Amino acid sequence: MDRNDKLDFMLSRRSAGTLGAPGPTREQLERMLLAAGTVPDHGRLRPFRFAVIEAEGRAAFGDALARAAAERKPDMSEAAREGVRAKAFRSPTIIVLIASPKPGKIERWEQQATAACAGYAIVLAAHALGVGAVWKSVPFTRGQALTELFGLGEAEEMLGFIHLGTPTAAEEPAARPAIDLSALTIVIDSNGTSRFGS
Ligand SMILES: Cc1cc2nc3c(=O)[nH]c(=O)nc-3n(C[C@H](O)[C@H](O)[C@H](O)COP(=O)(O)O)c2cc1C
Repeated sequence: MDRNDKLDFMLSRRSAGTLGAPGPTREQLERMLLAAGTVPDHGRLRPFRFAVIEAEGRAAFGDALARAAAERKPDMSEAAREGVRAKAFRSPTIIVLIASPKPGKIERWEQQATAACAGYAIVLAAHALGVGAVWKSVPFTRGQALTELFGLGEAEEMLGFIHLGTPTAAEEPAARPAIDLSALTIVIDSNGTSRFGS
């Protein structure tokens, strides 16, 4: 693969739709998790950790999600709780991404950025291995039930979870809107400030 091919490969990553069995092998999982060790990481703190959820572990995860959702919104309907619980069963394997900032001089936001990069490394590694992946979340990062299940420390937060498995249908994902670099990027140089590309 030449350098352009490598970039094309990276640019061709898409999130998966529905995912079924088989999930990734242990070896594939290991390679994806090791990829997270390559992310930019100020102070080399590895401010993240993971929980791999498989098989019946999905019931424990789904229950924890539903309990944490109800803790946050006590008036939640049973149907809504079930909807949250069902999120755990959308793929054979899940990697839960936990931001685990360490005390010290590196700002917490930097460590959370590193943890988010770990999530991207995992989905990109899944793409390299031909494993379907999609990063999902719930509108909360903590809760008593999640604290118990994952042993969350005071500063730790669940930054969502990555579903892994085999795409069940050859779905074409919707095209991404083109990036307008001139809207997103300014250039500040010896001519002052301008929009990228202008
Ligand atoms: C932290 C995080 C949480 C996300 N949570 C959800 C989610 O709950 N539901 C969802 O449909 N997409 C979620 N996404 C977006 C998808 O993972 C995916 O990126 C999006 O559907 C666009 O598809 P693409 O990756 O093929 O561009 C999340 C992404 C991130 C980074």
